[in-house]
Amino acid sequence: MKNAELKSRKDAATPRGVGVMCDFYAERAENAELWDVEGRRFIDFAAGIAVCNTGHRHPKILAAIRDQLDHFTHTAYQIVPYASYVELAEKLNARAPGDHPKKTAFFTTGAEAVENAIKIARAATGRPGVIAFTGGFHGRTLMGMALTGKVAPYKIGFGPFPSDVFHAPFPNPLHGVTTADSLKAIEFLFKADIDPKRVAAIIFEPVQGEGGFYPAPAEFVRALRKLCNEHGILLIADEVQTGFARTGKLFAMNHYDVVPDLMTVAKSLAGGMPLSGVIGRAEIMDAAAPGGLGGTYAGNPLAVAAAHAVLDIIDEEKLCERATLLGDRVKAKLVSLQSEVPQIADVRGPGGMVAVEFCKAGGSEPDAEFTKRVQTLALERGLLLLVCGVYSNVVRFLFPLTIQETVFDEAMAILESVIKDSVAVAA
Ligand SMILES: Cc1ncc(COP(=O)(O)O)c(C=O)c1O
Repeated sequence: MKNAELKSRKDAATPRGVGVMCDFYAERAENAELWDVEGRRFIDFAAGIAVCNTGHRHPKILAAIRDQLDHFTHTAYQIVPYASYVELAEKLNARAPGDHPKKTAFFTTGAEAVENAIKIARAATGRPGVIAFTGGFHGRTLMGMALTGKVAPYKIGFGPFPSDVFHAPFPNPLHGVTTADSLKAIEFLFKADIDPKRVAAIIFEPVQGEGGFYPAPAEFVRALRKLCNEHGILLIADEVQTGFARTGKLFAMNHYDVVPDLMTVAKSLAGGMPLSGVIGRAEIMDAAAPGGLGGTYAGNPLAVAAAHAVLDIIDEEKLCERATLLGDRVKAKLVSLQSEVPQIADVRGPGGMVAVEFCKAGGSEPDAEFTKRVQTLALERGLLLLVCGVYSNVVRFLFPLTIQETVFDEAMAILESVIKDSVAVAA
């Protein structure tokens, strides 16, 4: 079947709210490459939105899923439990930041992990309030939307949202927001909107993902921890996009000398299978009453089997080191282009969580048009890139960390050519 035919059937059968970026349809994928139904090949720097850090169809993940298929595919963990769930919880408890006792509960999507982290924080503190940040993205469920700090397209037409959610500006020096500004805004929330004694949690992304790949400054994360300690507030790190070697460490929080009380994980946890989790201090995780957490598919055995394989692959193939090595190469390429491309306003990101921000030549006004051109040209030349940022002026690079050298070099050559050609069009 051809792409054009599928597109017209899609338009007739599925709602436009499920926005689709590409006009071609996947037929198969292998590591960092993907082929459409017409046989066209693409290099996949989207990795299913940060899900395939271990690449498409890693043989170890396939073997783990096949083995699980031969045993059982679903019992509902809350009805008939299985060892692999418990063992995965043990592994994550041991590897998440902090040497205190931890517990982990599994869910299916990132948004569900976020929802449950808030439920757990409220149950543990007996408080309703949550503070999140502008530019943050936490999912498309009602609480996920309420916490998300970006209106279009996520919140349009979907309110009212759960109450007692407040936003403070996320530090972003490039756009004139310092750490001091952010902290002052939180103090102001405590004066103007909510008594800190009514705040259950502060939730933040160690590196904002959808919001534009802005890393949280170390002094900001330290200050959040201090603020939480002072007021009995829980600190939640949303590691849904940053986790599992993407930033050059297993978790982005490993870059900070701060330990969160709760952490949400998903995406690359199970290398393409739907699985998420909340990892946290044991006594906090136990605050919810039995039956309060879970879900029919939560901790699906096929996804759990895949996650065990993912953790092994990260260790065996040294994917944290590889994330940093490859991320540094993307950054070096972009920095080398900076003298010829005045639109490159910033190149940033830890490990392999790299982004380039485009602004109007030489200034600080976001250039969404230039960014779109880079993305479109790249797609035409067979490289799948994702755009992010509140102003849609950031290209993020989410290559599988297992990508072959030759494929990576090919992608770098395409990237260079499309950025240079976009300047020529802009001139
Ligand atoms: C930081 C963060 N939190 C939560 C989510 C929501 O995850 P999901 O789309 O699996 O519900 C995302 C998705 O992009 C995310 O990046």
